[in-house]
Amino acid sequence: MYNVEIDTSAMMRRTVQTVCDIARRPLTGLRVLDLGCAHGHYAFEMAKLGALVLGIEGRETWVKQANRTRQEESRTNVEFVQDDVRNLGKEKYGEFDIVLCLGLLYHLDAPDVFNLVNNIFEVCRDFAVIETHFAAKPTGMQTWRGKQYWGASIQEHAAGASAKGKLKRAGASLDNEKSFWLTKSSLYNILQHVGFTSVYESRIPVGNLYIGPDSAFKIWGHRTMLVAIKGGPQSLRDSLEIPARLKADWPETPADYQFEQYLYEHQSPVIGKITGRVRRFLRRFVV
Ligand SMILES: C[S@@+](CC[C@H](N)C(=O)[O-])C[C@H]1O[C@@H](n2cnc3c(N)ncnc32)[C@H](O)[C@@H]1O
Repeated sequence: MYNVEIDTSAMMRRTVQTVCDIARRPLTGLRVLDLGCAHGHYAFEMAKLGALVLGIEGRETWVKQANRTRQEESRTNVEFVQDDVRNLGKEKYGEFDIVLCLGLLYHLDAPDVFNLVNNIFEVCRDFAVIETHFAAKPTGMQTWRGKQYWGASIQEHAAGASAKGKLKRAGASLDNEKSFWLTKSSLYNILQHVGFTSVYESRIPVGNLYIGPDSAFKIWGHRTMLVAIKGGPQSLRDSLEIPARLKADWPETPADYQFEQYLYEHQSPVIGKITGRVRRFLRRFVV
């Protein structure tokens, strides 16, 4: 085993910057929800900017630590509750201008992961920031509300681990032994299916990490920060409206649908066909 020290301060900077840039107004008085907030480091950043923050966290130890900080800093605009995010709902918690779901989604199994995305939409007034691992190579498919989503099943806790043992692993799921990591395409698709009108990916500032005693620069490989906007669905002039095409989903294998490849194959049909077959063959070994 190895022990690495990770400095995630760049991720913190990216999150705060992204929230402020997308909000495009002071956070003062805005309701912000921080799901799976741990000791509340993001919640406190939002509170410092004047937001009215609620942090929901499933582990009692984290909530106690967050409340200690709250007292030490005499913050009255941030509150923490111990609850399972799977209980999120408008009736229980009301609505929020901004929802933060950071480092959390990939700790849930199917169908909870889908229900949480749906519940985030329900409680969200403006936008949600979802920072998550994604499955680079899907190994399975799940159906939710008649739609298919691809991803990989990941072991969170050893099979048969005790409830106490699970709680001790402070950054992991609360009880589910497995979680379902969605592919990027399926992440985009579920966000659209539950009702978000636009989804953006935050790339700048770079959410890098500094690892170990030398603070080595590393970037997340299969992790992304998405901003999902709850806007008003727009329609086009009648003559341009083709409803069936407006809700296109992302394909799971975007490379197979590349327009540029289509052009190439049609400009030179023979070569195109051969390279197409060879490409598909090679992809089994290479990608
Ligand atoms: C990897 S940490 C991320 C903490 C923080 N959001 C961040 O980005 O730094 C995941 C957090 O989610 C909490 N968590 C996991 N599953 C949860 C659930 N079902 N309900 C509430 N909290 C949960 C964990 O206890 C842990 O604090």
